[in-house]
Amino acid sequence: RGKRVGERTTERWEEVEVPTCAAGNKAEEGLENRWSVSQKNFETMTAQQGRQRLGTVVVREFEAADKDQVQLIFYEGLMEMVPDTAFRGLRHHPKSLLLYAAATVICFVTTTCWWVIGLLPAVVLCGRYFYSRQVIHGYLEQAMNRDMGDIEGFYKNSPDARLWVAVLEGKVVGIVAAVRHQTMGGAVELQRMAVDRRWRQFGIGMALGRKVLEFAVTNKYSSVVLGTTAYSRAAHKLYQRLGFRCVGVTNGYVTPGATSSLLQNLFYQVHHYHYSLNLQNSKIQNGHH
Ligand SMILES: CC(C)(COP(=O)(O)OP(=O)(O)OC[C@H]1O[C@@H](n2cnc3c(N)ncnc32)[C@H](O)[C@@H]1OP(=O)(O)O)[C@@H](O)C(=O)NCCC(=O)NCCS
Repeated sequence: RGKRVGERTTERWEEVEVPTCAAGNKAEEGLENRWSVSQKNFETMTAQQGRQRLGTVVVREFEAADKDQVQLIFYEGLMEMVPDTAFRGLRHHPKSLLLYAAATVICFVTTTCWWVIGLLPAVVLCGRYFYSRQVIHGYLEQAMNRDMGDIEGFYKNSPDARLWVAVLEGKVVGIVAAVRHQTMGGAVELQRMAVDRRWRQFGIGMALGRKVLEFAVTNKYSSVVLGTTAYSRAAHKLYQRLGFRCVGVTNGYVTPGATSSLLQNLFYQVHHYHYSLNLQNSKIQNGHH
């Protein structure tokens, strides 16, 4: 793991520098794409801080020197999914909830020990955390073996794959990739979307997503697709705001890197949400996005 992107602070906005609207939003400058941060958040922050600091975020293609920062953002974004899947995701799986509740009742009835009622849910939560972590580590390992271990080799040498970074004051604060879809002809897949936690809700995710759409239009792809197992509202809101529609949900999805062990199946379940954005005849294709 490389060096931290800037200094992590838990103190929130008072401690971090705030990028503001750059003149000439979205103006193209070679491969770079400049845009403004979310005005809404900026206003909230300046109200809190009583100060403004100018800064511009730039979306550009990956360069070799970005590797450590890109891997770190990818790693941290992925690891956030561990508690998300283990705890928040639980309410999306009523059958599992029922199973855990039934197991608790059965254990209580057979043992008549009250402490079982407290202990078993704790064991379940620990199990869910452990197995979510295990699967997500497996996924990370696969990603490192595929593209994230040799980013330059994977993305720089292929016309069908691209990785962009969002850079603020020389530091990478967000990443996204586009890869031609293996089986769906004419489709490109948006992957690896992640923004540094300190710079979220400023429109960086939107700017990265738009870069992928721009790439898809320029390269005449007919659609952009993506799949996510995230339960966080942020990811779904982002994709919907970019114009994607949820076209299906796979229940009982097997995450790449997962094994089919009994315990893993008992403690790790996710839905896989499929999103798609048809570019043919869309406003984006006609330059109105
Ligand atoms: C998902 C993620 C990339 C969003 O990045 P971001 O820079 O914060 O996104 P933006 O600021 O461009 O926000 C896009 C929209 O989502 C909304 N949004 C972002 N975070 C939100 C949150 N936590 N709750 C509710 N809405 C949220 C924004 O309000 C905005 O909508 P609006 O324009 O209607 O206000 C970021 O949260 C992240 O890196 N998460 C961890 C990794 C991850 O989950 N990646 C996706 C895996 S598929």
